[in-house]
Amino acid sequence: MPLEATRSSSQAAGLALGANSPVGIFDSGLGGLSVLRAVRAALPDERLIYVADSLYAPYGERDDDFIADRTLAIGEWLIAQGAKALVVACNTATAQSIAQARERMSVPMIGVEPGIKPAALMSQTRVAGVLATAVTLRSARFQALAERHATDCRFILQPGHGLVQAVERCDIDSPELIELLRSYIQPMLDANADTLVLGCTHYPFLDKAIRSIAGDRLALIDTSVAIARQLERQLDLHGLRAAPSHAAELPRFCSTSDGQMQQQLVASLLGLDVHVERVVIPSRRTLALES
Ligand code: DGL
Repeated sequence: MPLEATRSSSQAAGLALGANSPVGIFDSGLGGLSVLRAVRAALPDERLIYVADSLYAPYGERDDDFIADRTLAIGEWLIAQGAKALVVACNTATAQSIAQARERMSVPMIGVEPGIKPAALMSQTRVAGVLATAVTLRSARFQALAERHATDCRFILQPGHGLVQAVERCDIDSPELIELLRSYIQPMLDANADTLVLGCTHYPFLDKAIRSIAGDRLALIDTSVAIARQLERQLDLHGLRAAPSHAAELPRFCSTSDGQMQQQLVASLLGLDVHVERVVIPSRRTLALES
């Protein structure tokens, strides 16, 4: 399964959560908007709060302790805002710190991981590329996932250095970006890969750029729709689905940076003209950076 969810014992012990409370979704930056888009389509009655930790993106270039520190701080901040469930819409944060976060959080948490299983099921040539952050690829969680499915399918693992930064500045089609992507994808095509796992939630924004390089030779695996379905199952399981009367509310968009790029991407991706709130979410490591 590319996804998973759990519920902590403190919640099982009876922490009151309202079905009409919002779902918190967060990412190191703008990538999680690809997940938010799928959640809105699948669960239009849910109220959503999105946090982009853009001030500290990319996580893929950070150390493990930093990623865990931010994941815990943002998760706790969202719970303090009333979130009834959390979607860690970041492969890197899930891979590195969801186990730790689950011990601390009092609400169901849905994580994401690269779609290795669907790729192994789908690939005809039995060669699939995986584009993800270096942190995700080197994590024990990813290694275990890949081992489970790599028996008769070869995975070509490629860290996507520079790609998160490009999406964060809303560059999804510049000639420099296409050349960078080509340097990652061409070796996969040369090795006869027919499937490409988008193992970072920022990468679905690069689908057109990838198509311009690979045409139809690669089936792209993006798990955002599966994540939305998993959230739906977890909300149902815990009796937390919003009542239909709460439809049509715009998500609350928050950023730890100035939010301008988020506003731009939300307009072009979701067709929404929104205000992005700048929020301060202190954590042990960022306080240390600032002092
Ligand atoms: N969207 C994040 C992911 O899915 C990007 C991580 C990063 O900031 O490097 O991995």
